[in-house]
Amino acid sequence: MQEKQVAETSTAGHPSARAMVLLTAGVAALGGLLFGYDTSVISGAMLFLKPAFQLTDTQLEFAVAIVLAGALVGSALAGYSTDRWGRRLVLLATGLGFGAFSVFSGLAFGLVSFCLARFFVGVCIGVASLVTPLYLSEMSPARIRGALVSLNQLAITVGIVAAYFVDYELAAAQNWRWMFISAVFPALALCLGMVVLPESPRWLARVGFRDRALENFHRLGRGGEAESELREVEQALAEGQEGFGILFQPGFRVAVLVGVGLAIFQQITGINTIIYYAPAILRMSGYPSDKAAILATAVIGIVNVLVTIVSILLVDRLGRRFLLLLGTAGMAVALALVGAAFHRQSGGLTVFYEMIAYIVFFGIGLGPCVWLLISEIYPTKIRGKAMSLATLSVWGANWVVAVTFLSLIRSAGPAGTFWIFAGTCVLSFVFCLAFVPETKGKTLEAIERHWRHFGEKRRHSAE
Ligand code: BGC
Repeated sequence: MQEKQVAETSTAGHPSARAMVLLTAGVAALGGLLFGYDTSVISGAMLFLKPAFQLTDTQLEFAVAIVLAGALVGSALAGYSTDRWGRRLVLLATGLGFGAFSVFSGLAFGLVSFCLARFFVGVCIGVASLVTPLYLSEMSPARIRGALVSLNQLAITVGIVAAYFVDYELAAAQNWRWMFISAVFPALALCLGMVVLPESPRWLARVGFRDRALENFHRLGRGGEAESELREVEQALAEGQEGFGILFQPGFRVAVLVGVGLAIFQQITGINTIIYYAPAILRMSGYPSDKAAILATAVIGIVNVLVTIVSILLVDRLGRRFLLLLGTAGMAVALALVGAAFHRQSGGLTVFYEMIAYIVFFGIGLGPCVWLLISEIYPTKIRGKAMSLATLSVWGANWVVAVTFLSLIRSAGPAGTFWIFAGTCVLSFVFCLAFVPETKGKTLEAIERHWRHFGEKRRHSAE
């Protein structure tokens, strides 16, 4: 990118403004926490659901997967809703939905009521997965946007680990109902937070509330730069055309390709085979007991949290591209080794260490950077709707991997399966190398201008 880097200093200098930015980021990230918690909590609860509702294996699989169907619907609806009603209102409604449907899941009295409640939890997950990074991205100063948006991914990983521990604690009493109901607490915190936090100044500018946009840039600590940042936003809004059509213009077409490609690669490189099936994989590789495998899964979850913190510290220094390339290369090697360990029957501990290596590289690159980039690369006018395409691709690919993994293991064997995933990591590396732009330190408007200039250059060279 040719655009000049933006030097922003105001936020750093002002302690109360810095606290406001951090508070906003922390509260919004509860959307990520609920995403992580509610996708994982089922792994422990399903042991008890089966006898409680006397389910067949197929019914149980359906009860587990229904949340992904909800997330697909949620991510399709979220973009339009948040462009229309704002980031704050939609996050507030999502918090309410999470609270209500978590309680309904816990109180369910049969398969149908459980699946209905979990479907709507899934809708909330889909909405949160889009609006949380989008809101964080729009309110962050460019200089630290990578770190602040990646708090969303950190919260997802914390949510996953929290679910493991809650499941573990409640398992002895077979209290599956509270496994679901517990999500009501972060959901309420999200609602309360969204009542007091500022609306995204970029969205306010888009819908014509200039004074409130300026006020919120001030609340977010932009100081003397609030006015110039707002003018930059207004200029970009004046240039940008309304509607989906913009996404088919030459420059923005590439942005769509980058967003959808990253979303699909984040999933088809196998992360959720580890997140959802780690105990089963470890048992297959010769781990001595279910208990040891479950403990090892918790360790993988904790490593995922820790390494996301490392990525947060690095993303605004080393940039998104570097972390993505390092991450996908490392994931490819780790999965090739997992495949080799299964092939040679090297035993459970080897597979465990290699899975840890895999999660380290995922947590450095594809984990946080995908959500970050898809919240940065689209024009403000249609950011929500464009993000819907990418988020839908995440959930669609997630669903395909989740429902085909066990059959893939049966047909290609564990070694073959992990080699296939290693191959998708190589493809993902090549994709990032060829298409992903560096967005470090640039304002969202500078990124938008990059695509526009890129498109104009392509048009000229074609003429
Ligand atoms: C992915 C999820 C995954 C999680 C693991 C997220 O970025 O979208 O599918 O389960 O990371 O940390």
